[in-house]
Amino acid sequence: MLTNTISSLLGNAVTVLAAFVAMLLLDWQLTIVALILMPILVIAQRRVGQVRARIAAKTQESLSDMTAITQETLSVSGILLSKSFTRQQAEIGRYSNENDNQVRLQVSQQMSGQWFFAMVSIFLSSIPAIVYLVAGLLMSNGSADITAGTIVAFTTVQSRLLFPLLGLMRVALDLQTSSALFARIFQYLDLVPAIQDSPTALAVPESGPATGRVEFDDVTFAYPDAAGESRPTLDQVSFTIEPGQFAAFVGPSGAGKTTVSYLIPRFYEATAGRVLFGGIDVRDLAQQSLVSHIGIVSQETYLFHATIAENLRYAKPDATADELEAAARSASIHDTIASFPAGYDTVVGERGYRLSGGEKQRIAIARVLLKNPEVLILDEATSALDAISERVVQAALDTASRGRTTIAIAHRLSTIVAADVIFVVDGGRIVESGTHGGLLAADGVYARLYSEQVAGPSPIESPATAPGARLSAPSLLSEERD
Ligand SMILES: Nc1ncnc2c1ncn2[C@@H]1O[C@H](COP(=O)(O)OP(=O)(O)OP(=O)(O)O)[C@@H](O)[C@H]1O
Ligand SMILES: [Mg+2]
Repeated sequence: MLTNTISSLLGNAVTVLAAFVAMLLLDWQLTIVALILMPILVIAQRRVGQVRARIAAKTQESLSDMTAITQETLSVSGILLSKSFTRQQAEIGRYSNENDNQVRLQVSQQMSGQWFFAMVSIFLSSIPAIVYLVAGLLMSNGSADITAGTIVAFTTVQSRLLFPLLGLMRVALDLQTSSALFARIFQYLDLVPAIQDSPTALAVPESGPATGRVEFDDVTFAYPDAAGESRPTLDQVSFTIEPGQFAAFVGPSGAGKTTVSYLIPRFYEATAGRVLFGGIDVRDLAQQSLVSHIGIVSQETYLFHATIAENLRYAKPDATADELEAAARSASIHDTIASFPAGYDTVVGERGYRLSGGEKQRIAIARVLLKNPEVLILDEATSALDAISERVVQAALDTASRGRTTIAIAHRLSTIVAADVIFVVDGGRIVESGTHGGLLAADGVYARLYSEQVAGPSPIESPATAPGARLSAPSLLSEERD
């Protein structure tokens, strides 16, 4: 806005002002005649500006839709998805629809107001004729002492107004159009983060008796965009994980295990109750400091489109090559990396698509080991590994988890039998807790889950053998419909 408008704004404003003063000095009556219709132009200009601003906002929206479509469908996962569902033609159609829309909007944005400028030009260039007419009438009446010289001088100066005035109007129009775009930008810049440090936020104390303790005190939590749902995602969850303990969360899919892991680094705020880290409410801690003490291997591995070394250094930018290798060895991925022609300089591709699921997962583990956090959260961190590499990585994780609090979320119970404490989550509640042995002895949800995994599904739930299967299938369906 600055570069395009400032220079023409200054030059034109000076010309218009000077011409106006000169006209006034020459003859004030003729000045009124010449400028009497200006207010109409100004009003018309405002209307045109509003229309343009509206179209500009729509153009911008459509542009962002187009960008989203491009990014979605041309990302590696998007391409695979559209190919595997043979939806390429449909995607091309979706893009070209939006593209047509964009063309239409851009053309109408450029065209809107052209009639206005045409009108203004005609009007401004016909004013001298009107001035001649009025001045001639006044002269022949003898009612004003206008000379032919004044008229010629007046119309000369007045014709100087034409282009600067047009220029100023274009500037005003540009400003109005830009303001529609600014509104969109400020919509985002003005967003206030829902979770912010309190003014008295503390750093996590470096050492103390509670360092590494994680505690939930009657925590209830509902996702902000699921406020209408009757049941909160976490319902009065309380537990304490002592410093250095290895804790496991198990339970059915959708139970709320990942959600628990989000509340610890305060990615979300508990609706009620308190989350304590090292004995301090996370709301009283500076988030930067809190998160720097926590390492997470998330359920969905994410790697950047960069080299393996760069992905690893994301955790520790100044890590040496030896440190990278040590971390990779711990995650039993070093040999695989070394077997690549470019070694640690192998570019992993978008989201890491050039690596297998298990390789990605092990790089993610190496990355978090490099961060060396006080509290380690592993959300299904070994789910994509075969039994042998899982055992190797498990051993590495056991070593890594020594001396730090570790929270492992797992579906495969074999990986967590050695945990100090196991919490069984179901429907957002902790329904059981204890050690593997204790929970088996209690013969509850955990014992059933475990026996199913070890011995396969119990006969009652296997359709091939269960006499009641034909009954239970429709009842499941109707439950889903409810
Ligand atoms: N961002 C979100 N917004 C709204 N609801 C969500 C969001 N993330 C998860 N949920 C819902 O919260 C519930 C718990 O999800 P969560 O991811 O914690 O389950 P989980 O126990 O980790 O399951 P899984 O074993 O499949 O990973 C689910 O019903 C899910 O649909
Ligand atoms: Mg999960």
